[in-house]
Amino acid sequence: MRIALGSDHAGLELKKEIIKHLEKKGIELEDCGTYSMESCDYADFAEKVAEQVVSKKSDYGILVCGTGIGISIAANKVPGIRAALCGDTFSAHACREHNDANILSLGARVVGVGVALDIVETFLNAKFEGDRHQRRINKISAIEEKYTK
Ligand code: RB5
Repeated sequence: MRIALGSDHAGLELKKEIIKHLEKKGIELEDCGTYSMESCDYADFAEKVAEQVVSKKSDYGILVCGTGIGISIAANKVPGIRAALCGDTFSAHACREHNDANILSLGARVVGVGVALDIVETFLNAKFEGDRHQRRINKISAIEEKYTK
């Protein structure tokens, strides 16, 4: 499994903790930045990670900003991306099982490191259930196609 990670300055410290955690497990990673605490714009890193996922260079993405909101909104502008902002482990497995989320978004100013790592683990271990959920995702894709010109 290969995972692309990205954050803005507000998410950098949590992203580093996630990288440490995933490296220990031997998971292949692509760190798309940011790499310093200098103020930057979350959309730039959302796009880099989303590109990794839609081009299938990475299986999943993990994005972190202060709230997780801006960076997930930005990632969801890329056709084919289903980024889910999670602050609890129930959402973390449900977004994989029901929504086939391909990017997990976290708010570094919202969740602590312990909860965030549990969310990451839960997200990566859950499986999409298909069936009626696939039908619903197909409708999301149809909306995307209708408004993508
Ligand atoms: C940066 O201050 C902050 O606005 C950003 O990390 C994020 O929370 C936006 O949604």
